[in-house]
Amino acid sequence: MLILGLESSCDETAAAVVAGDRRVLSHKLAGQEADHAPFGGVVPEIAARAHGEQLPGLVRGALAEAGVTLADVDAVAATAGPGLIGGVMVGLVTAKALALSAGKPLITVNHLEGHAYSPRLVEPGLAFPYLLLLVSGGHCQLLEVRGVGRFRRLATTIDDAVGEAFDKTAKILGLGFPGGPAVERAAATGDPFAVPLPRPLLGTQEPHFSFAGLKSAVLRARDAGTHSVPDIAASFQQAAVECLVDRTERALARAVDVTALVVAGGVAANRRVRSALEAVATARAVPFVAPPGWLCTDNAAMIAWAGVERLREGLTDSLDAPARARWPLDPDAEPARGAGVKA
Ligand code: KG4
Ligand code: ZN
Repeated sequence: MLILGLESSCDETAAAVVAGDRRVLSHKLAGQEADHAPFGGVVPEIAARAHGEQLPGLVRGALAEAGVTLADVDAVAATAGPGLIGGVMVGLVTAKALALSAGKPLITVNHLEGHAYSPRLVEPGLAFPYLLLLVSGGHCQLLEVRGVGRFRRLATTIDDAVGEAFDKTAKILGLGFPGGPAVERAAATGDPFAVPLPRPLLGTQEPHFSFAGLKSAVLRARDAGTHSVPDIAASFQQAAVECLVDRTERALARAVDVTALVVAGGVAANRRVRSALEAVATARAVPFVAPPGWLCTDNAAMIAWAGVERLREGLTDSLDAPARARWPLDPDAEPARGAGVKA
């Protein structure tokens, strides 16, 4: 089985060819950092235009590097949401055109589902159900991944996503954009206990996350002018990691039948986040799986792999499938207190 996957939901444009036996035959990626850097964040209109310009070349490149043509693939998979709607539409419509012209099935993939199965691309032994901490720029959730298309959301953020908190901290500290890797680099030379920062919701009975208060505390710490940038970055990262650990420990203690603790999404590329979560799994004698860094941040290999997972279940979509700005993995999940903004 060969799947061509496309990704365009935020600020990475990507195309990849992945085989059913887990070989990543090619994965091509074009970032837009330079386009968005002057604005300190992703500008949706600029992102959509850039996807439209980059995607055809990336598709051609991915097919060529894989040594295949469109006629050789079994289906075309594309992110159909959630994300910035202009960009999602560029990728989805491109996939529809390719599928239509080559007479191949279309597979629409939920971007979060792409992150959720990505550990199975690199870990053949990872079986459902597993506990997933999904940490990205737009989301911070704990999910039971029970099967293909079967998710139970256990927790979400009541305000900011953790990646958003990294990005805002970077902006506050003048570390540039994208923020996560910049904060991690600055933190490497700082003292993680130099600045007293809050750990929102730590130890509470409710399952959810919160990062808005932490971000505001970073702003106050900077304005106080008494701490160095590396110390504030390291202290922020320490507080964020402790929040992730506490909420994940709580969920893992209550999970009855999970095969593993898994972390995915852009923030899972962070070394402190990975090692702290690995310790949580080890303490409970549960296997731990984290994809390699390139597979944590947005890419098309995970979308192509989700296409493999879905096609195996016979799940394909019609050419009038909609692009969705909001698309929760578990539509039946109880809304979190104070939420209503984050799907
Ligand atoms: O999954 P992703 O690439 O895109 C979304 O679906 O949102 O995640 C991007 C997020 C950004 O907030 C970025 O700052 C964060 O992941 N990130 C990191 C690191 N690398 C990326 N956060 C902390 N440490 C990192 N090394
Ligand atoms: Zn993502």
